[in-house]
Amino acid sequence: MKFFVDTAEIDAIAELNDLGMVDGVTTNPSLILKSGRDIIEVTAEICALVDGPVSAEVVAMEAEAMIAEGRKLAEIADNITIKLPLTWDGLKACKVLSDEGRMVNVTLCFSANQALLAAKAGATFISPFIGRLDDIHLDGMDLIADIRTIYDNYGYETNILAASIRSVNHVQDCALVGADVMTAPPEVIKKLATHPLTDKGLEQFMADWAKTGQNIL
Ligand code: E4P
Repeated sequence: MKFFVDTAEIDAIAELNDLGMVDGVTTNPSLILKSGRDIIEVTAEICALVDGPVSAEVVAMEAEAMIAEGRKLAEIADNITIKLPLTWDGLKACKVLSDEGRMVNVTLCFSANQALLAAKAGATFISPFIGRLDDIHLDGMDLIADIRTIYDNYGYETNILAASIRSVNHVQDCALVGADVMTAPPEVIKKLATHPLTDKGLEQFMADWAKTGQNIL
């Protein structure tokens, strides 16, 4: 499973990228707001830092304007993925921009039928939002599994990009049900390395080592 980082914070992306943990980046208008940066400038910096796809989201609501914004965002770098909302206009823009050979990420997906439409419109990525479904007491992971089944049934090549990930359990469950990619905040990715038994075991080893009175260097 590929790891995308869900942030527009350059330092956090760089830290994970140095460890080889970053296969791509996703941003959205809320993350741009949180960064306090200009969308074009910060996206260009992210694209220069990371080799993989970097999603930048349009903000127009109508297809023609989405296409124009998408083309402008794509000028930033070759690894830009144009992020479009899963609306009828977003699907129209997806078809046009995909036919132009551009990478498209269709976002705000909350049903398997929406994912089916995005695949038919040529999306490179579909972004089902797990956490926001869990927030309203629906099972976001069921949606990932349903989309996996449908795409495999018909051989759709659209990548399932599991989004709105809030916990380490979400990451593990996405891998188990076969999401192609997951995008998570940096803090969730770093938390994957932690386990209370690792901490406890290390504490015991360090205590015993101190008693040996030895040094390695
Ligand atoms: C990524 O593409 C999404 O914009 C993001 O994962 C949404 O996450 P949230 O529901 O935690 O805001």
